Amino acid sequence: MPRPKVYVTREIPERGLKIIKKYFETEVWTEYAPPPKKVIIEKAKNVDALASLLSDKIDAEVFNAAPKLKIVAQLAVGFDNIDVQEATKRGIYITNTPEVLTDTTADFAWALLMAVARRVAEADRYVRSGKWKVGWHPSMMQGRDVYGATIGIVGAGRIGYAVAKRATGFDMKILFYDVVPRPEIEQLGAKKVDLDTLFKESDFVSIHVPLMKETYHLVNAEKLKLMKKTAYLINNSRGPVVDEKALYEALKEGRIAGAGLDVFEQEPTPVDNPLLKLDNVVVAPHISSASYETRSKMAEMVADNLVAFFEGKKPPNLINPDVLKVRPLQKLF
Ligand code: GLV
Repeated sequence: MPRPKVYVTREIPERGLKIIKKYFETEVWTEYAPPPKKVIIEKAKNVDALASLLSDKIDAEVFNAAPKLKIVAQLAVGFDNIDVQEATKRGIYITNTPEVLTDTTADFAWALLMAVARRVAEADRYVRSGKWKVGWHPSMMQGRDVYGATIGIVGAGRIGYAVAKRATGFDMKILFYDVVPRPEIEQLGAKKVDLDTLFKESDFVSIHVPLMKETYHLVNAEKLKLMKKTAYLINNSRGPVVDEKALYEALKEGRIAGAGLDVFEQEPTPVDNPLLKLDNVVVAPHISSASYETRSKMAEMVADNLVAFFEGKKPPNLINPDVLKVRPLQKLF
């Protein structure tokens, strides 16, 4: 039997790529920037599988061009770039990489939180630019205490829980909001509240929801108006969950104290995004899961999902189980 063909839309870490190359006839897009959509469509025409990233739009247009495509294995926990419903209809399996990145992503939410509350990035710029002229001054670079403050977790799934767990080490009061019961986070002492109460009472609001119709601009002007003047917004979920224009207005008018953002409505965010002009905003280029170990584990998961599927087994991280009814599992190696 000829080896199945996979198109990998970027050079993923070797730990995963090695496995993929062992089992599949593999082509990799080797440029640093993502392949244009027309390249993905062209490549999809002849492959049995795609290994995708969150920056690749995988929709009906791709599926229509890809009569042999059976599985899309995404290197990310989020999959809002993939039209899962269209895939399921066509019997295309979709997988993601949950869990291995939970702690790394929670660590980074904390990095943003600490950085913005204690003005780390601003202080770094201050020293480097030669503004540090006085050795020590009582009012120099005052920030806000993290320990003992109230953190509000919006979306208490795996990552939200891991962020809350870290908050217990800072003696914080933990509030959370979710649309489903989350007994694990309650066991940490976190209190379930409605969304408005969370925005009103938190010193740090940290966003951990997937991007869906229901969460688009969940953080809008109204919600931001509820926040304390001394409170911070942290977002390392997906950019469009926050209305960036409304956030900019709130920050500019001093209605909230600052924001830590790893994600943007448009990525890469244009350098003239007004948020980048504000000293009380700490930004990063969507790198929350970017540790050497985690990215290697994610790549390995992509490979494991692909291999399982072609071996006729249910891929461990299948996100559209309904697809089993459309295309039953079958050994294809
Ligand atoms: C990163 O944002 C991911 O979804 O894994």
